[in-house]
Amino acid sequence: MSVNLKSADDIEKMRVAGRLAAEVLDYIAPHVQPGVATGELDRLCHEYMVETQRTIPAPLHYAPPGHLPYPASICTSVNHVVCHGIPGDKKLKPGDIVNLDITVIKDGFHGDTSRMFCIGSPSIQARRLVDATYEAMWRGIRAVRPGAHLGDIGSTIQKFAESQGFSIVREFCGHGIGRQFHEEPQVLHYGRPGTGLKLVPGMTFTIEPMINAGRAGIRSLADGWTIVTADHSLSAQWEHTVLVTADGHEVLTLSAGAPEPPAA
Ligand code: MF3
Ligand code: CO
Ligand code: CO
Repeated sequence: MSVNLKSADDIEKMRVAGRLAAEVLDYIAPHVQPGVATGELDRLCHEYMVETQRTIPAPLHYAPPGHLPYPASICTSVNHVVCHGIPGDKKLKPGDIVNLDITVIKDGFHGDTSRMFCIGSPSIQARRLVDATYEAMWRGIRAVRPGAHLGDIGSTIQKFAESQGFSIVREFCGHGIGRQFHEEPQVLHYGRPGTGLKLVPGMTFTIEPMINAGRAGIRSLADGWTIVTADHSLSAQWEHTVLVTADGHEVLTLSAGAPEPPAA
Protein backbone atom coordinates (compact mmCIF):
# COMPACT_ATOMS: atom_id res chain seq x y z
CA MET A 1 0.00 0.00 0.00
CA SER A 2 1.45 3.39 -0.88
CA VAL A 3 -0.02 6.62 0.32
CA ASN A 4 0.93 9.72 -1.53
CA LEU A 5 2.16 12.49 0.77
CA LYS A 6 1.49 15.95 -0.57
CA SER A 7 4.20 18.61 -0.85
CA ALA A 8 3.60 22.21 0.21
CA ASP A 9 2.96 22.99 -3.43
CA ASP A 10 0.47 20.13 -3.83
CA ILE A 11 -1.33 21.24 -0.66
CA GLU A 12 -1.77 24.76 -2.01
CA LYS A 13 -3.41 23.27 -5.12
CA MET A 14 -5.57 20.93 -3.01
CA ARG A 15 -6.80 23.96 -1.04
CA VAL A 16 -7.89 25.63 -4.25
CA ALA A 17 -9.59 22.52 -5.65
CA GLY A 18 -11.30 21.85 -2.32
CA ARG A 19 -12.67 25.36 -1.99
CA LEU A 20 -13.91 25.31 -5.59
CA ALA A 21 -15.77 22.03 -5.04
CA ALA A 22 -17.46 23.54 -1.97
CA GLU A 23 -18.34 26.67 -3.93
CA VAL A 24 -20.23 24.57 -6.47
CA LEU A 25 -22.48 23.50 -3.58
CA ASP A 26 -22.86 27.15 -2.49
CA TYR A 27 -23.81 28.05 -6.05
CA ILE A 28 -26.38 25.29 -6.50
CA ALA A 29 -28.00 25.50 -3.03
CA PRO A 30 -30.67 28.10 -3.95
CA HIS A 31 -31.75 25.94 -6.89
CA VAL A 32 -32.39 22.86 -4.75
CA GLN A 33 -36.16 23.37 -4.49
CA PRO A 34 -39.38 21.41 -5.00
CA GLY A 35 -40.06 20.82 -8.70
CA VAL A 36 -36.47 21.02 -9.92
CA ALA A 37 -35.23 17.96 -11.82
CA THR A 38 -31.95 16.44 -10.67
CA GLY A 39 -30.80 16.62 -14.29
CA GLU A 40 -31.30 20.38 -14.19
CA LEU A 41 -29.09 20.62 -11.08
CA ASP A 42 -26.46 18.61 -12.98
CA ARG A 43 -26.71 20.91 -15.99
CA LEU A 44 -26.36 24.04 -13.85
CA CYS A 45 -23.40 22.65 -11.91
CA HIS A 46 -21.70 21.49 -15.08
CA GLU A 47 -22.02 24.91 -16.63
CA TYR A 48 -20.76 26.63 -13.46
CA MET A 49 -17.74 24.34 -13.19
CA VAL A 50 -16.75 24.49 -16.85
CA GLU A 51 -17.66 28.09 -17.75
CA THR A 52 -17.26 30.03 -14.50
CA GLN A 53 -14.69 28.11 -12.46
CA ARG A 54 -12.81 26.54 -15.34
CA THR A 55 -12.72 23.34 -13.37
CA ILE A 56 -13.22 19.82 -14.72
CA PRO A 57 -16.18 17.85 -13.33
CA ALA A 58 -14.35 14.68 -12.27
CA PRO A 59 -17.37 12.32 -12.32
CA LEU A 60 -18.15 12.91 -16.01
CA HIS A 61 -17.09 9.77 -17.91
CA TYR A 62 -15.23 8.51 -14.83
CA ALA A 63 -14.80 4.76 -15.37
CA PRO A 64 -13.05 2.84 -12.61
CA PRO A 65 -12.31 -0.82 -13.43
CA GLY A 66 -15.52 -2.82 -13.77
CA HIS A 67 -17.72 0.26 -14.21
CA LEU A 68 -19.40 1.89 -17.18
CA PRO A 69 -18.35 5.51 -17.63
CA TYR A 70 -20.38 7.69 -15.25
CA PRO A 71 -22.77 9.74 -17.43
CA ALA A 72 -23.07 13.04 -15.50
CA SER A 73 -21.05 15.77 -13.78
CA ILE A 74 -22.45 15.39 -10.25
CA CYS A 75 -24.15 12.68 -8.19
CA THR A 76 -27.71 13.26 -6.93
CA SER A 77 -28.83 10.71 -4.36
CA VAL A 78 -32.45 11.08 -3.23
CA ASN A 79 -34.07 9.44 -0.16
CA HIS A 80 -33.24 5.70 -0.21
CA VAL A 81 -30.42 6.23 -2.72
CA VAL A 82 -27.19 5.76 -0.78
CA CYS A 83 -24.75 7.21 -3.33
CA HIS A 84 -23.89 7.63 -7.01
CA GLY A 85 -27.44 8.53 -8.01
CA ILE A 86 -27.49 9.59 -11.68
CA PRO A 87 -29.20 12.93 -12.37
CA GLY A 88 -32.24 12.73 -14.64
CA ASP A 89 -35.84 13.80 -15.17
CA LYS A 90 -36.92 13.01 -11.61
CA LYS A 91 -38.14 16.16 -9.84
CA LEU A 92 -37.49 16.87 -6.19
CA LYS A 93 -40.64 17.05 -4.06
CA PRO A 94 -41.43 18.36 -0.58
CA GLY A 95 -40.20 15.96 2.08
CA ASP A 96 -37.29 14.59 0.04
CA ILE A 97 -33.73 14.52 1.31
CA VAL A 98 -31.02 14.67 -1.35
CA ASN A 99 -27.24 14.45 -1.38
CA LEU A 100 -25.34 16.43 -3.99
CA ASP A 101 -21.77 15.16 -4.42
CA ILE A 102 -19.31 17.40 -6.25
CA THR A 103 -15.79 16.58 -7.36
CA VAL A 104 -13.77 19.09 -9.37
CA ILE A 105 -10.29 18.98 -10.84
CA LYS A 106 -8.26 22.20 -10.86
CA ASP A 107 -4.62 22.39 -11.85
CA GLY A 108 -4.39 18.59 -11.76
CA PHE A 109 -5.78 18.15 -8.23
CA HIS A 110 -9.17 16.95 -6.99
CA GLY A 111 -11.53 18.41 -4.39
CA ASP A 112 -14.45 16.20 -3.29
CA THR A 113 -17.35 17.24 -1.04
CA SER A 114 -21.04 16.56 -0.59
CA ARG A 115 -23.92 17.98 1.40
CA MET A 116 -27.48 16.97 2.20
CA PHE A 117 -30.40 19.21 1.30
CA CYS A 118 -33.90 19.00 2.76
CA ILE A 119 -36.76 19.80 0.39
CA GLY A 120 -39.63 21.47 2.23
CA SER A 121 -40.00 19.82 5.64
CA PRO A 122 -38.89 16.19 5.70
CA SER A 123 -40.06 13.92 8.54
CA ILE A 124 -38.49 14.27 11.96
CA GLN A 125 -36.79 10.91 11.39
CA ALA A 126 -35.32 12.11 8.08
CA ARG A 127 -33.97 15.30 9.65
CA ARG A 128 -32.54 13.32 12.56
CA LEU A 129 -30.73 11.08 10.05
CA VAL A 130 -29.35 14.05 8.11
CA ASP A 131 -28.15 15.80 11.28
CA ALA A 132 -26.68 12.66 12.84
CA THR A 133 -24.77 11.89 9.65
CA TYR A 134 -23.36 15.43 9.66
CA GLU A 135 -22.26 15.05 13.24
CA ALA A 136 -20.80 11.60 12.50
CA MET A 137 -18.68 13.09 9.71
CA TRP A 138 -17.44 15.88 11.98
CA ARG A 139 -16.65 13.49 14.81
CA GLY A 140 -14.55 11.54 12.28
CA ILE A 141 -12.81 14.71 11.10
CA ARG A 142 -12.01 15.70 14.68
CA ALA A 143 -10.21 12.37 15.18
CA VAL A 144 -7.71 13.30 12.43
CA ARG A 145 -4.23 14.18 13.75
CA PRO A 146 -0.70 12.85 13.31
CA GLY A 147 -0.23 9.59 15.20
CA ALA A 148 -3.94 8.72 15.14
CA HIS A 149 -4.97 5.63 13.20
CA LEU A 150 -7.56 5.24 10.46
CA GLY A 151 -9.46 2.92 12.83
CA ASP A 152 -9.90 5.85 15.23
CA ILE A 153 -11.84 7.73 12.56
CA GLY A 154 -13.98 4.72 11.63
CA SER A 155 -14.77 3.69 15.18
CA THR A 156 -15.73 7.24 16.17
CA ILE A 157 -18.17 7.48 13.27
CA GLN A 158 -19.59 4.02 13.82
CA LYS A 159 -20.05 4.46 17.55
CA PHE A 160 -21.93 7.73 17.13
CA ALA A 161 -24.15 6.56 14.25
CA GLU A 162 -25.10 3.34 16.00
CA SER A 163 -25.78 5.20 19.27
CA GLN A 164 -28.41 7.15 17.33
CA GLY A 165 -30.04 3.92 16.12
CA PHE A 166 -28.67 4.15 12.57
CA SER A 167 -26.41 1.84 10.55
CA ILE A 168 -23.19 2.36 8.59
CA VAL A 169 -22.87 1.30 4.97
CA ARG A 170 -19.78 -0.96 4.70
CA GLU A 171 -19.25 -1.27 0.95
CA PHE A 172 -18.14 2.34 0.34
CA CYS A 173 -15.56 4.37 2.16
CA GLY A 174 -13.59 7.58 2.16
CA HIS A 175 -10.44 7.63 0.07
CA GLY A 176 -7.10 9.25 -0.45
CA ILE A 177 -7.36 12.04 -3.00
CA GLY A 178 -4.96 14.24 -4.92
CA ARG A 179 -3.88 13.94 -8.53
CA GLN A 180 -6.17 10.92 -8.59
CA PHE A 181 -9.87 10.95 -7.69
CA HIS A 182 -9.54 7.78 -5.60
CA GLU A 183 -6.12 7.01 -4.14
CA GLU A 184 -4.94 5.00 -1.18
CA PRO A 185 -5.77 4.74 1.64
CA GLN A 186 -9.34 3.51 2.07
CA VAL A 187 -10.98 5.35 4.95
CA LEU A 188 -13.57 3.02 6.47
CA HIS A 189 -16.45 4.53 8.42
CA TYR A 190 -16.40 1.71 10.96
CA GLY A 191 -13.64 -0.10 12.80
CA ARG A 192 -11.65 -0.38 16.00
CA PRO A 193 -9.58 2.32 17.71
CA GLY A 194 -5.81 2.04 17.32
CA THR A 195 -6.00 -0.16 14.20
CA GLY A 196 -5.10 0.58 10.61
CA LEU A 197 -2.74 3.05 9.02
CA LYS A 198 -1.11 5.66 11.21
CA LEU A 199 -1.73 9.23 10.04
CA VAL A 200 1.16 11.53 9.15
CA PRO A 201 1.22 15.17 7.99
CA GLY A 202 0.70 15.61 4.25
CA MET A 203 -1.94 12.90 3.84
CA THR A 204 -5.14 14.04 2.13
CA PHE A 205 -8.28 11.95 2.17
CA THR A 206 -12.05 12.19 2.30
CA ILE A 207 -14.40 11.31 5.13
CA GLU A 208 -17.85 10.57 3.71
CA PRO A 209 -20.03 8.34 5.86
CA MET A 210 -23.16 6.83 4.32
CA ILE A 211 -25.64 6.15 7.10
CA ASN A 212 -28.97 4.34 6.82
CA ALA A 213 -32.10 4.81 8.91
CA GLY A 214 -32.79 1.08 8.61
CA ARG A 215 -30.46 -1.84 7.96
CA ALA A 216 -26.96 -1.44 6.52
CA GLY A 217 -27.48 -3.61 3.43
CA ILE A 218 -27.38 -2.11 -0.08
CA ARG A 219 -28.22 -3.10 -3.64
CA SER A 220 -26.98 -1.70 -6.96
CA LEU A 221 -29.37 -0.80 -9.73
CA ALA A 222 -29.14 -1.98 -13.32
CA ASP A 223 -27.74 1.38 -14.47
CA GLY A 224 -24.43 0.15 -13.06
CA TRP A 225 -24.01 3.08 -10.65
CA THR A 226 -26.97 3.85 -8.41
CA ILE A 227 -26.71 2.33 -4.94
CA VAL A 228 -29.89 2.01 -2.84
CA THR A 229 -30.69 0.64 0.61
CA ALA A 230 -31.82 -2.99 0.37
CA ASP A 231 -34.70 -2.32 2.77
CA HIS A 232 -35.65 0.97 1.06
CA SER A 233 -34.93 2.95 4.23
CA LEU A 234 -33.60 6.50 3.97
CA SER A 235 -29.87 7.07 3.63
CA ALA A 236 -27.77 10.20 4.21
CA GLN A 237 -24.18 11.21 3.45
CA TRP A 238 -21.91 14.20 3.96
CA GLU A 239 -18.34 14.51 2.68
CA HIS A 240 -15.29 16.66 3.27
CA THR A 241 -11.72 16.42 1.99
CA VAL A 242 -9.19 16.79 4.83
CA LEU A 243 -5.43 17.29 5.18
CA VAL A 244 -3.41 15.87 8.07
CA THR A 245 -1.35 18.80 9.41
CA ALA A 246 1.55 18.90 11.89
CA ASP A 247 -0.82 19.46 14.80
CA GLY A 248 -4.18 18.14 13.64
CA HIS A 249 -6.14 18.61 10.45
CA GLU A 250 -7.35 21.16 7.97
CA VAL A 251 -10.68 20.77 6.17
CA LEU A 252 -10.00 21.63 2.53
CA THR A 253 -13.61 21.76 1.31
CA LEU A 254 -14.95 24.69 3.29
CA SER A 255 -16.58 27.73 1.70
CA ALA A 256 -18.68 30.72 2.68
CA GLY A 257 -21.89 28.70 2.36
CA ALA A 258 -20.77 25.56 4.19
CA PRO A 259 -22.98 24.80 7.19
CA GLU A 260 -21.45 25.42 10.64
CA PRO A 261 -19.78 22.42 12.22
CA PRO A 262 -21.74 20.99 15.16
CA ALA A 263 -20.74 22.06 18.69
CA ALA A 264 -17.81 19.91 19.82
N1 MF3 B 1 -17.73 11.70 -5.40
C1 MF3 B 1 -17.84 10.29 -5.10
C2 MF3 B 1 -16.93 10.04 -3.93
O1 MF3 B 1 -17.10 10.72 -2.96
C3 MF3 B 1 -17.49 9.41 -6.24
C4 MF3 B 1 -18.43 9.50 -7.35
S1 MF3 B 1 -17.88 8.50 -8.62
C5 MF3 B 1 -18.96 8.88 -9.86
O2 MF3 B 1 -16.01 9.30 -3.91
F1 MF3 B 1 -18.46 8.41 -10.94
F2 MF3 B 1 -20.11 8.38 -9.53
F3 MF3 B 1 -19.09 10.17 -9.92
CO1 CO C 1 -15.20 10.94 -2.16
CO1 CO D 1 -17.75 12.69 -3.37
